[in-house]
Amino acid sequence: MNFEALKGFHDPCFVLAENGTILKLNDSALKFFSPPKSKTEGQIFSKILTPDTIPQFEKNLALSFKNNTSAEFEIKMQSFDSTIHDVNIFLSPFINEKDKKKNILLLGKDFTSEKKIESEYLKFYTVAQNTVNPLQITDIDGKMIYVNPAFERASGYKSDELIGQNPKIFGSKKQTGEYWETMWRTISSGKVWLGEVENKKKSGESLHTRLLVSPIIDETQKVVGYFGIHHDLTDKKMLEKQLIHTQKMESIGTLAAGVAHEVGNPLASISALVQIVQRETDDNFIKEKLELVKKQITRISKIIRDLVDFSRPSDYELKSTDINDNLKEAIEIVKVGKKTKDINFISHLDESIPSVPLIADQIQQVFVNILINAVDAIAEKKEKYKSGEESFIKVATSIKDATIMVVFDDNGIGIPEESLSKVFEPFFTTKKEGKGTGLGLWVSYGIIKSSHGDIKVESADNKGTTFIINFPLNLIL
Ligand SMILES: Nc1ncnc2c1ncn2[C@@H]1O[C@H](COP(=O)(O)OP(=O)(O)OP(=O)(O)O)[C@@H](O)[C@H]1O
Ligand SMILES: [Mg+2]
Repeated sequence: MNFEALKGFHDPCFVLAENGTILKLNDSALKFFSPPKSKTEGQIFSKILTPDTIPQFEKNLALSFKNNTSAEFEIKMQSFDSTIHDVNIFLSPFINEKDKKKNILLLGKDFTSEKKIESEYLKFYTVAQNTVNPLQITDIDGKMIYVNPAFERASGYKSDELIGQNPKIFGSKKQTGEYWETMWRTISSGKVWLGEVENKKKSGESLHTRLLVSPIIDETQKVVGYFGIHHDLTDKKMLEKQLIHTQKMESIGTLAAGVAHEVGNPLASISALVQIVQRETDDNFIKEKLELVKKQITRISKIIRDLVDFSRPSDYELKSTDINDNLKEAIEIVKVGKKTKDINFISHLDESIPSVPLIADQIQQVFVNILINAVDAIAEKKEKYKSGEESFIKVATSIKDATIMVVFDDNGIGIPEESLSKVFEPFFTTKKEGKGTGLGLWVSYGIIKSSHGDIKVESADNKGTTFIINFPLNLIL
């Protein structure tokens, strides 16, 4: 064994006797001892270990001697300036040619700096894993190489579905190609890009975020990847959308009330005139035609009544109303219709709901509207698919957080996603000419809003529809 060969070796090397004393050491091993060098040989090796790693070292040393086998393990060594080094050591027994005694060659590999990087990486990783902001790291080609759990939650995708993919899979196509080109141009030139984006979750819902993308630059100033951090704006966008919707509905309401008033008066005159002429004439042809005119007048009057109902003036009387009773009556009214005979009406009414001040007739009109729509939706599905599936309309009431909730569920034809935002708009109907005016839900919306409540719809095409109405409990009579 020629120890000279290891003298200039970058990592520390020792030759140890069976009792652990140092027989030889190379230059890079010297940093563990205070000068002068002459004092180092003859010292016990384990003195330069941290106390907690001594037993493990001594055990391995003894085993190596006894079994004549090599061993490899990690220890912590302390240099004379007290810095601790993480060292991977390798023990190898050999026979010393001079005195024929068995010695051990100890080679150490100092990996303190790697360990530091690893622990810093771990710190970053822990932060990335636990932050509420969705994070994504992509390589230079834009393929995702890391997403954090917040990203998984926000997007609805699991990390292994995303790694290796291009973020295009979230594309909602709401931003133009130009928009993304500007982003790529900015980040690939080493600059940070910030913008608002609308992506698509796995479920198809929109995900609005403010996105900051910064390029990852290596020591040669080359862009090697991109780091993206999102701030979720979905709630903010939703509120904005609701506000716009409410304002739109309000302005339509004002317009409709005006039109109803302007059309209502001349219509009343026409109606009176028709009746007079009908009474005065003996001509059967004229009588017959006037009958048709009257029918059309009735139809227009009904529409006008609906228009007025939307923004009903407050002279209607508020009465302490039992919502459950009101609902039961609405169901009875709807059940009279002949289309309902195969439909299973299921009610889950929470009897602990207190009475609240509402305009009972109007609220009942809303319930009847929604129930008739459900009956129609079921009939339409039956006609389309001719399936023997059992049809149901479920009505449930409950109370939670000072809010009364009324939920209507049906398994009818459903509403396609693109129509969901339109059902509360006036004259939106999918029913055949003469079957629906498209005012039912619009009027319902107006009534619920003027009762300080809220109405929402959820639906899956061909599966069914849910209408949810909320009334605040603290309504004052
Ligand atoms: N439960 C439901 N299932 C499926 N589609 C529905 C449901 N409720 C409403 N819709 C859709 O919303 C549209 C608007 O409903 P709305 O009650 O406002 O008008 P309408 O029923 O068509 O006519 P009107 O009620 O004025 O006679 C309907 O035409 C239908 O397309
Ligand atoms: Mg309707």
